[in-house]
Amino acid sequence: MTTPQRVEHQQTDKGSVPVYTTAVVEQPWDAYTDTDHGVWQTLFRRQTAQLGQQACREFLDATEAMGMSDAGIPKFSDLNAVLKPRTGWEIIGVEGLLPELDFFDHLANKRFPVTWWIRRPDQLDYLSEPDLFHDLFGHVPLLMTPLFADYMQAYGRGGLRAHGFGAEALAQLTRLYWYTVEFGLINTPEGLRIFGAGILSSKGECDYSLNSEAPNRIGFNLQRVMNTRYRIDTYQKTYFVIDSFQQLFDATLADFGPLYPELAKRETVPAGNVLDSDTVFHRGTGEGWLQTGDV
Ligand SMILES: [Fe+2]
Repeated sequence: MTTPQRVEHQQTDKGSVPVYTTAVVEQPWDAYTDTDHGVWQTLFRRQTAQLGQQACREFLDATEAMGMSDAGIPKFSDLNAVLKPRTGWEIIGVEGLLPELDFFDHLANKRFPVTWWIRRPDQLDYLSEPDLFHDLFGHVPLLMTPLFADYMQAYGRGGLRAHGFGAEALAQLTRLYWYTVEFGLINTPEGLRIFGAGILSSKGECDYSLNSEAPNRIGFNLQRVMNTRYRIDTYQKTYFVIDSFQQLFDATLADFGPLYPELAKRETVPAGNVLDSDTVFHRGTGEGWLQTGDV
Protein backbone atom coordinates (compact mmCIF):
# COMPACT_ATOMS: atom_id res chain seq x y z
CA MET A 1 0.00 0.00 0.00
CA THR A 2 1.46 3.37 -0.98
CA THR A 3 0.79 6.80 0.40
CA PRO A 4 -1.63 8.73 -1.82
CA GLN A 5 0.10 11.59 -3.55
CA ARG A 6 -2.02 14.49 -4.56
CA VAL A 7 -1.19 16.24 -7.81
CA GLU A 8 -2.92 19.57 -7.62
CA HIS A 9 -5.41 20.57 -10.26
CA GLN A 10 -4.59 18.92 -13.51
CA GLN A 11 -6.82 19.63 -16.46
CA THR A 12 -8.89 16.52 -17.14
CA ASP A 13 -12.16 15.71 -18.85
CA LYS A 14 -13.84 16.63 -15.57
CA GLY A 15 -12.32 20.10 -15.62
CA SER A 16 -9.55 21.39 -13.39
CA VAL A 17 -9.49 18.92 -10.54
CA PRO A 18 -6.97 17.06 -8.42
CA VAL A 19 -5.66 13.79 -9.79
CA TYR A 20 -4.07 11.26 -7.49
CA THR A 21 -1.20 9.00 -8.35
CA THR A 22 -2.25 6.59 -5.69
CA ALA A 23 -2.55 2.87 -5.53
CA VAL A 24 -5.54 1.21 -3.96
CA VAL A 25 -6.30 2.34 -0.41
CA GLU A 26 -8.21 0.52 2.29
CA GLN A 27 -11.57 2.09 3.05
CA PRO A 28 -10.99 3.66 6.50
CA TRP A 29 -14.52 2.80 7.59
CA ASP A 30 -13.92 3.20 11.33
CA ALA A 31 -12.66 6.75 10.73
CA TYR A 32 -15.94 8.01 9.27
CA THR A 33 -17.55 10.50 11.65
CA ASP A 34 -21.22 10.82 12.53
CA THR A 35 -21.21 13.83 10.22
CA ASP A 36 -19.93 11.66 7.33
CA HIS A 37 -22.65 9.06 7.92
CA GLY A 38 -25.19 11.87 8.22
CA VAL A 39 -24.21 13.25 4.81
CA TRP A 40 -24.68 9.80 3.28
CA GLN A 41 -28.05 9.47 4.98
CA THR A 42 -29.25 12.85 3.76
CA LEU A 43 -28.11 12.26 0.19
CA PHE A 44 -29.37 8.68 0.08
CA ARG A 45 -32.84 9.66 1.33
CA ARG A 46 -33.03 12.64 -0.97
CA GLN A 47 -32.11 10.68 -4.08
CA THR A 48 -34.14 7.54 -3.39
CA ALA A 49 -37.22 9.68 -2.67
CA GLN A 50 -37.29 10.78 -6.30
CA LEU A 51 -35.58 7.95 -8.14
CA GLY A 52 -38.37 5.37 -7.79
CA GLN A 53 -40.03 6.81 -10.89
CA GLN A 54 -36.87 8.11 -12.56
CA ALA A 55 -34.06 5.56 -12.35
CA CYS A 56 -33.97 2.42 -14.48
CA ARG A 57 -35.27 -0.76 -12.85
CA GLU A 58 -31.82 -2.41 -12.85
CA PHE A 59 -30.42 0.39 -10.71
CA LEU A 60 -33.27 0.33 -8.22
CA ASP A 61 -33.18 -3.44 -7.83
CA ALA A 62 -29.41 -3.51 -7.42
CA THR A 63 -29.35 -0.80 -4.77
CA GLU A 64 -31.68 -2.91 -2.70
CA ALA A 65 -29.94 -6.21 -3.47
CA MET A 66 -26.60 -4.76 -2.37
CA GLY A 67 -28.08 -3.63 0.91
CA MET A 68 -27.42 0.08 0.43
CA SER A 69 -29.59 2.05 2.85
CA ASP A 70 -29.85 5.28 4.75
CA ALA A 71 -28.31 3.63 7.81
CA GLY A 72 -24.87 4.97 6.97
CA ILE A 73 -21.90 4.66 4.64
CA PRO A 74 -21.70 1.06 3.41
CA LYS A 75 -18.58 -1.02 3.86
CA PHE A 76 -16.93 -1.83 0.54
CA SER A 77 -16.31 -5.37 1.78
CA ASP A 78 -20.04 -5.93 2.39
CA LEU A 79 -20.92 -4.67 -1.09
CA ASN A 80 -18.22 -6.78 -2.71
CA ALA A 81 -19.62 -9.87 -1.00
CA VAL A 82 -22.77 -9.38 -3.11
CA LEU A 83 -21.25 -7.86 -6.25
CA LYS A 84 -18.37 -10.21 -6.90
CA PRO A 85 -20.38 -13.44 -7.06
CA ARG A 86 -22.89 -11.71 -9.38
CA THR A 87 -20.68 -10.26 -12.13
CA GLY A 88 -17.08 -10.75 -11.02
CA TRP A 89 -16.63 -7.03 -10.37
CA GLU A 90 -15.27 -5.56 -7.15
CA ILE A 91 -14.96 -2.04 -5.85
CA ILE A 92 -11.63 -0.71 -4.61
CA GLY A 93 -10.94 2.35 -2.50
CA VAL A 94 -9.01 5.26 -4.02
CA GLU A 95 -8.17 8.80 -3.03
CA GLY A 96 -9.85 10.41 -6.02
CA LEU A 97 -9.52 10.67 -9.79
CA LEU A 98 -6.83 8.42 -11.22
CA PRO A 99 -4.49 8.88 -14.17
CA GLU A 100 -6.27 7.62 -17.29
CA LEU A 101 -4.20 4.50 -17.86
CA ASP A 102 -4.62 3.38 -14.25
CA PHE A 103 -8.37 3.92 -14.51
CA PHE A 104 -8.67 1.95 -17.76
CA ASP A 105 -6.55 -0.85 -16.32
CA HIS A 106 -8.84 -1.17 -13.30
CA LEU A 107 -11.96 -1.33 -15.48
CA ALA A 108 -10.39 -3.85 -17.85
CA ASN A 109 -9.79 -6.05 -14.81
CA LYS A 110 -13.27 -5.56 -13.34
CA ARG A 111 -12.21 -3.26 -10.53
CA PHE A 112 -14.23 -0.09 -10.04
CA PRO A 113 -12.35 2.66 -8.18
CA VAL A 114 -14.46 4.38 -5.52
CA THR A 115 -13.32 7.54 -3.74
CA TRP A 116 -13.33 6.69 -0.03
CA TRP A 117 -14.13 10.17 1.36
CA ILE A 118 -17.52 11.87 1.34
CA ARG A 119 -18.38 15.52 0.81
CA ARG A 120 -18.99 17.96 3.66
CA PRO A 121 -22.52 18.97 4.73
CA ASP A 122 -22.04 22.36 3.04
CA GLN A 123 -21.31 20.62 -0.28
CA LEU A 124 -24.51 18.58 -0.62
CA ASP A 125 -25.53 20.14 -3.92
CA TYR A 126 -22.27 20.67 -5.73
CA LEU A 127 -18.79 19.25 -5.70
CA SER A 128 -16.31 19.61 -8.55
CA GLU A 129 -14.62 16.25 -8.01
CA PRO A 130 -16.25 12.86 -7.51
CA ASP A 131 -16.65 11.74 -3.90
CA LEU A 132 -17.91 8.54 -2.29
CA PHE A 133 -21.56 9.35 -2.83
CA HIS A 134 -21.15 9.93 -6.55
CA ASP A 135 -18.87 6.93 -7.10
CA LEU A 136 -20.69 4.47 -4.87
CA PHE A 137 -24.35 5.41 -5.11
CA GLY A 138 -24.13 6.57 -8.72
CA HIS A 139 -21.86 4.01 -10.36
CA VAL A 140 -21.73 0.80 -8.38
CA PRO A 141 -25.32 -0.58 -8.48
CA LEU A 142 -25.34 -1.05 -12.26
CA LEU A 143 -22.20 -3.18 -12.03
CA MET A 144 -24.67 -5.83 -10.81
CA THR A 145 -26.21 -5.89 -14.32
CA PRO A 146 -24.15 -8.32 -16.43
CA LEU A 147 -24.49 -6.50 -19.77
CA PHE A 148 -23.62 -3.14 -18.29
CA ALA A 149 -20.76 -4.65 -16.31
CA ASP A 150 -19.41 -6.19 -19.53
CA TYR A 151 -19.72 -2.82 -21.26
CA MET A 152 -17.63 -1.22 -18.54
CA GLN A 153 -14.94 -3.85 -18.93
CA ALA A 154 -14.96 -3.44 -22.72
CA TYR A 155 -14.62 0.30 -22.21
CA GLY A 156 -11.55 -0.21 -20.01
CA ARG A 157 -9.95 -2.48 -22.59
CA GLY A 158 -10.77 0.02 -25.31
CA GLY A 159 -9.15 2.76 -23.25
CA LEU A 160 -5.93 0.82 -22.90
CA ARG A 161 -5.85 0.32 -26.67
CA ALA A 162 -6.78 3.94 -27.39
CA HIS A 163 -3.68 5.24 -25.71
CA GLY A 164 -1.69 4.25 -28.76
CA PHE A 165 -3.93 6.43 -30.92
CA GLY A 166 -3.26 9.69 -29.12
CA ALA A 167 -5.20 12.49 -27.45
CA GLU A 168 -8.04 12.82 -29.97
CA ALA A 169 -8.90 9.12 -29.68
CA LEU A 170 -8.99 9.45 -25.90
CA ALA A 171 -11.23 12.50 -26.20
CA GLN A 172 -13.65 10.52 -28.38
CA LEU A 173 -13.69 7.69 -25.88
CA THR A 174 -14.21 10.10 -23.00
CA ARG A 175 -17.29 11.50 -24.76
CA LEU A 176 -18.71 8.00 -24.97
CA TYR A 177 -18.20 7.51 -21.22
CA TRP A 178 -19.63 10.92 -20.48
CA TYR A 179 -22.84 10.46 -22.45
CA THR A 180 -23.47 6.90 -21.29
CA VAL A 181 -21.89 5.96 -17.95
CA GLU A 182 -22.26 9.47 -16.53
CA PHE A 183 -25.28 11.01 -18.27
CA GLY A 184 -27.09 8.22 -20.09
CA LEU A 185 -30.85 7.71 -20.37
CA ILE A 186 -32.57 4.47 -21.37
CA ASN A 187 -35.90 3.99 -23.14
CA THR A 188 -38.19 1.58 -21.28
CA PRO A 189 -41.87 0.55 -21.58
CA GLU A 190 -42.57 2.96 -18.69
CA GLY A 191 -40.83 5.84 -20.47
CA LEU A 192 -37.35 7.33 -20.34
CA ARG A 193 -35.33 6.39 -17.28
CA ILE A 194 -31.91 7.37 -15.94
CA PHE A 195 -28.88 5.10 -15.81
CA GLY A 196 -26.02 7.64 -15.82
CA ALA A 197 -24.23 8.09 -12.50
CA GLY A 198 -23.74 11.82 -12.92
CA ILE A 199 -27.50 12.24 -13.05
CA LEU A 200 -28.36 9.61 -10.42
CA SER A 201 -26.18 11.34 -7.83
CA SER A 202 -27.46 14.86 -8.59
CA LYS A 203 -30.62 16.16 -6.96
CA GLY A 204 -31.48 18.69 -9.65
CA GLU A 205 -30.39 16.89 -12.78
CA CYS A 206 -32.67 13.86 -12.29
CA ASP A 207 -35.77 15.91 -12.90
CA TYR A 208 -34.06 18.17 -15.44
CA SER A 209 -32.77 15.34 -17.61
CA LEU A 210 -36.17 13.64 -17.85
CA ASN A 211 -38.71 16.44 -17.62
CA SER A 212 -37.25 19.80 -18.56
CA GLU A 213 -38.13 21.25 -21.97
CA ALA A 214 -34.64 22.76 -22.28
CA PRO A 215 -32.33 19.84 -23.19
CA ASN A 216 -32.34 17.62 -26.28
CA ARG A 217 -33.03 13.92 -25.87
CA ILE A 218 -31.59 12.03 -28.81
CA GLY A 219 -31.30 8.34 -29.70
CA PHE A 220 -27.90 6.81 -29.03
CA ASN A 221 -25.59 6.50 -32.01
CA LEU A 222 -21.99 5.54 -31.31
CA GLN A 223 -20.25 7.80 -33.82
CA ARG A 224 -22.53 10.73 -33.06
CA VAL A 225 -21.82 10.42 -29.34
CA MET A 226 -18.06 10.07 -29.78
CA ASN A 227 -18.03 13.29 -31.76
CA THR A 228 -20.25 15.40 -29.50
CA ARG A 229 -18.84 17.94 -27.05
CA TYR A 230 -20.32 18.30 -23.58
CA ARG A 231 -20.71 20.47 -20.49
CA ILE A 232 -18.73 20.02 -17.32
CA ASP A 233 -20.07 23.06 -15.46
CA THR A 234 -23.82 22.98 -16.13
CA TYR A 235 -26.53 20.42 -16.76
CA GLN A 236 -26.13 18.77 -20.17
CA LYS A 237 -27.62 20.37 -23.28
CA THR A 238 -28.16 16.94 -24.80
CA TYR A 239 -28.88 13.52 -23.31
CA PHE A 240 -28.51 10.37 -25.41
CA VAL A 241 -31.06 7.59 -25.03
CA ILE A 242 -30.14 3.92 -25.41
CA ASP A 243 -32.74 1.26 -26.23
CA SER A 244 -31.14 -1.35 -23.99
CA PHE A 245 -27.89 -2.29 -22.31
CA GLN A 246 -27.51 -4.87 -25.07
CA GLN A 247 -27.40 -2.05 -27.61
CA LEU A 248 -24.71 -0.30 -25.59
CA PHE A 249 -22.62 -3.43 -25.26
CA ASP A 250 -22.99 -4.35 -28.93
CA ALA A 251 -21.90 -0.88 -30.02
CA THR A 252 -18.58 -1.34 -28.28
CA LEU A 253 -17.85 -4.84 -29.56
CA ALA A 254 -16.11 -3.60 -32.68
CA ASP A 255 -12.49 -2.47 -32.65
CA PHE A 256 -12.49 1.34 -32.53
CA GLY A 257 -9.06 1.47 -34.17
CA PRO A 258 -10.29 2.41 -37.67
CA LEU A 259 -12.98 4.68 -36.22
CA TYR A 260 -10.71 7.14 -34.39
CA PRO A 261 -8.96 8.63 -37.45
CA GLU A 262 -12.28 8.69 -39.35
CA LEU A 263 -13.99 10.66 -36.62
CA ALA A 264 -11.00 12.95 -36.18
CA LYS A 265 -11.49 14.18 -39.76
CA ARG A 266 -14.94 15.50 -38.88
CA GLU A 267 -15.81 18.63 -36.96
CA THR A 268 -16.93 17.91 -33.42
CA VAL A 269 -20.62 18.62 -32.80
CA PRO A 270 -21.44 21.40 -30.30
CA ALA A 271 -23.18 20.05 -27.19
CA GLY A 272 -26.61 21.45 -28.03
CA ASN A 273 -26.87 20.82 -31.78
CA VAL A 274 -29.49 18.55 -33.34
CA LEU A 275 -28.51 16.89 -36.63
CA ASP A 276 -30.79 15.84 -39.49
CA SER A 277 -29.68 12.24 -38.98
CA ASP A 278 -30.67 12.21 -35.28
CA THR A 279 -33.53 10.20 -33.82
CA VAL A 280 -35.13 12.95 -31.77
CA PHE A 281 -37.10 12.07 -28.63
CA HIS A 282 -37.28 15.71 -27.67
CA ARG A 283 -35.84 18.81 -29.29
CA GLY A 284 -34.70 21.13 -26.52
CA THR A 285 -35.80 24.73 -26.25
CA GLY A 286 -32.28 25.70 -25.23
CA GLU A 287 -33.59 27.76 -22.35
CA GLY A 288 -30.82 28.73 -19.97
CA TRP A 289 -28.00 27.40 -22.11
CA LEU A 290 -24.64 29.11 -22.00
CA GLN A 291 -23.40 29.71 -25.53
CA THR A 292 -19.75 29.10 -24.73
CA GLY A 293 -17.94 26.54 -22.66
CA ASP A 294 -18.63 23.20 -24.38
CA VAL A 295 -15.58 20.98 -23.97
FE1 LIG B 1 -18.51 9.36 -12.32
